[in-house]
Amino acid sequence: MFETLQPAAPDKILALIGLFRDDPRPGKIDLGVGVYKDPEGRTPIMRAVRAAEQRLYDEQTTKTYVGPAGDAAFNAAMIRLAFGDDADLSRLRAVQTPGGSGALRALAELLKRARPDATVWVSDPTWPNHVPILAAAGLKTATYPYFDARSGSVRFEEMLGALEKARRGDAVLLHGCCHNPTGANLAPDQWEVLADLLVEHELYPFVDIAYQGFGEGLEADAAGLRVLTERVPEMLIASSCSKNFSVYRDRVGAAMLLARTPAEADVALSQLLSVGRSLYSMPPDHGAAAVRIVLCDPGLRADWEGELDTMRERMIRLREKLAEALRRRSNSDRFDFIAGHRGMFSRLGLTVDQVRRLREEHAVYMVDDSRINVAGLPEDRLDDLAMAIVSVAG
Ligand code: LMR
Repeated sequence: MFETLQPAAPDKILALIGLFRDDPRPGKIDLGVGVYKDPEGRTPIMRAVRAAEQRLYDEQTTKTYVGPAGDAAFNAAMIRLAFGDDADLSRLRAVQTPGGSGALRALAELLKRARPDATVWVSDPTWPNHVPILAAAGLKTATYPYFDARSGSVRFEEMLGALEKARRGDAVLLHGCCHNPTGANLAPDQWEVLADLLVEHELYPFVDIAYQGFGEGLEADAAGLRVLTERVPEMLIASSCSKNFSVYRDRVGAAMLLARTPAEADVALSQLLSVGRSLYSMPPDHGAAAVRIVLCDPGLRADWEGELDTMRERMIRLREKLAEALRRRSNSDRFDFIAGHRGMFSRLGLTVDQVRRLREEHAVYMVDDSRINVAGLPEDRLDDLAMAIVSVAG
């Protein structure tokens, strides 16, 4: 049977993990896959998560099934994290999923069941796995303009222009914050304009919020999502704990939905549970249980928020320092946009060949489209890195 198959193309982001690991050069720099790193280059388990895991270890008495929706208290806490403590819960529903990717896939399947002919509009560019996940659910995709590589800013007018031409009943995939791969985000007033357009053209927002807390703060990063929630009748929301709880390998996420009425929300939830049952039966418990303990315990939650603040502030500082070093080394403001971007990523605007040269000549690893993971920047060697970047950038 397998002789019918051709080798699958490797995932460009994940392939970098292996390439970097196998590079023997000392001083190599990993700006590839989106994982947070501390000043020592490690991705530590967060203090509050570690304490919650210890509590689980001490107190958990069984590993019998939890059920297809996962941990109900986790789901409730994830809704509050995304929509705020005073959110109207009557039209919101959530199920725990294996990571944000699991949430995206489950919601894509739900959309396919509800609107089989819908096209999902994704930003150009977007996270490379968005289109494969949507396509695997049988959905059509199209792109809207998003990023102006020259200025490093959002092409907002062109984005609106493209979405105005979408068909009623199409969906629009939006990055809730910390756009991946560009780091360029919508301003608060742009979220308002966008919400009006979505309502007027009867388009469904499909929000991927995978980096809440990594941009401007937990609340500020959810502001766009909350603007949409106030105005649109229906919405799909995929949320991830991989980054803000640093539980990457435990696969913790939530698929959430906003429906027109509580009754429609219940029906949609039942379909979402049936989707999950056919995809993976039930979500893994451990990571979500740890996150639930952190979110529901005031002491652990305060500690988690404090550690998250430190991580975010470090990324902002690294952005500013890299932009400064690049200004010095390039004698230009070409890379200033890095300081203004938010989240884990920025795109340097280099060609694939320049990215290859950085890897081969300087042991600096980044995604082919020149996306860098800001958290991987070596704070004490930014000048050398800037020199390397400028030497290949011409
Ligand atoms: C990334 O964009 O680097 C992360 O979201 C990891 C992944 O799965 O691609």
